[in-house]
Amino acid sequence: MSTQYISTEESLRQAGFLVKNRELLGDGKKYHIITFGCQLNDNDSEKMAGQMEAMNLLEAEELAEADLVVINTCSIRENAAGRFFGHLGIIKNLRKDKPNLLVAVCGCMMKQEVHVDKIRRSYPFVDMVFGPQDIYRFPELLNRRLEGSRRVYDVGMEDTVAEGVPVRRERKFRALSTIMYGCNNFCSYCVVPYARGRERSRHQAEVLAELKALADEGFSEVMLLGQNVNSYGKDLPASNEQGNFVELLTKAAEQSGLKRIRFMSSHPKDISLDLLDTIAAHPNIERHIHFALQSGSNEILKAMNRKYTAEHFLNLLAEARKRIPDISITTDIIVGFPGETEEDFQDTLRVVREAGFDQAFTFQYSPRPGTPAAKLEEVPADVMTERFNRLVEVQNENSLRAHERLVGETVEVLIEGLSDHSESSLTGRDSAYHLINFTLDEEVFAELGLAETDWVRRGQALEGRFAQVKITDAKTFSLQGELVGLAPQGRVG
Ligand code: 5AD
Ligand code: SF4
Repeated sequence: MSTQYISTEESLRQAGFLVKNRELLGDGKKYHIITFGCQLNDNDSEKMAGQMEAMNLLEAEELAEADLVVINTCSIRENAAGRFFGHLGIIKNLRKDKPNLLVAVCGCMMKQEVHVDKIRRSYPFVDMVFGPQDIYRFPELLNRRLEGSRRVYDVGMEDTVAEGVPVRRERKFRALSTIMYGCNNFCSYCVVPYARGRERSRHQAEVLAELKALADEGFSEVMLLGQNVNSYGKDLPASNEQGNFVELLTKAAEQSGLKRIRFMSSHPKDISLDLLDTIAAHPNIERHIHFALQSGSNEILKAMNRKYTAEHFLNLLAEARKRIPDISITTDIIVGFPGETEEDFQDTLRVVREAGFDQAFTFQYSPRPGTPAAKLEEVPADVMTERFNRLVEVQNENSLRAHERLVGETVEVLIEGLSDHSESSLTGRDSAYHLINFTLDEEVFAELGLAETDWVRRGQALEGRFAQVKITDAKTFSLQGELVGLAPQGRVG
């Protein structure tokens, strides 16, 4: 199946539906989006929010206030699927008091017939079902429902790339930009290539124009997203100067005017020394790489179809640290892949100790219907949990040690807002993605005209600004610091 490019002009055709829907919905209606899964889903939800705001809908803080609910699903592990059906149960009850409530369900789970069948059978109140490729035509699908179709189930099978869809950015400090869709890797446990289709890249000029516009709008940071960003451009015709990921990143760093550029995710088999040199050469590319180890056993890596060895992975890490001394490295690890023996697991522990990751996202293996690994015999649940706990313990030591090395240093923090854990401190991240909580003296707030303001509004006022923060204390999952100086006008330098 070939990629279908939806240009900005074609997306504007959807604008006709936006206008019609605005009339059909009337004034004062509210929407609520529930998003599961990764940042790609977050970005898709931002696009649906943008479309709904263009239909004059207002955001409802609470589910109960909404007239239109959208659930953007994730199918990466079983628990996300379970939580989704839990939410549908809650909405089923809400519908009893609010029979006109519109319910739309989209995202990766909808690409699997088994889930759509279950919705059809057990949750017949769901008005709309569509897939991750169909976000751009959400206004058209909603229009069909509003014009009288009882149910609109329309999961597109085409691999699409749509430009020009309105976006409502969730955060003031960090914008998300999906630069490519889909994945060709077919790791044997993973559902993504089935749910999100083949790899397809946006045209370089479109991405660069978006980044420039985001910088002009005042965003401090942009995160370039793709399941495997290092494959960016491989599907594009070489003839029309599309370039690869390193070229895109270089141009983004040199031309966009952005203060910070981050990217996710990288596959270890595709990370080039060129990429590491590009990061090293550009201070506005963040000092952080996320590359997923998945397992430290070469046998298991082979069974996972990962196409690299533990040795290759560790060499890459050494190269990254040599070229970019202040780099932080985070990873994903799956415990209990079918066939994993205690010896295999010991290999993982050894590699994790040696790698000294700043942070690891650890998962217990979850069989996904339709993937090759789902046919294999599973590791018993108690063995999996016990290994998982041992791994977390080893990684927690790594995280604490990585954090302790920063105590006494002064780092530049991009403020994200008020800390979740303390009502009177702010939170943000440095260029290496470390989470840093810090306090400000009342005098500073007085100078900012925020002396009489509550903490929530103080957090909002400072979101997106840069601060110099001296690290005073290290914890496993965060750092504590105190303000040295706040950058003027939200910018440093
Ligand atoms: N079971 C457990 N974890 C999984 N991941 C992907 N598929 C599965 C699965 N079937 C993890 C991988 C991936 C991260 C996004 O989710 O570690 O890198
Ligand atoms: Fe899934 Fe592997 Fe693709 Fe990542 S690289 S999305 S783990 S198939």
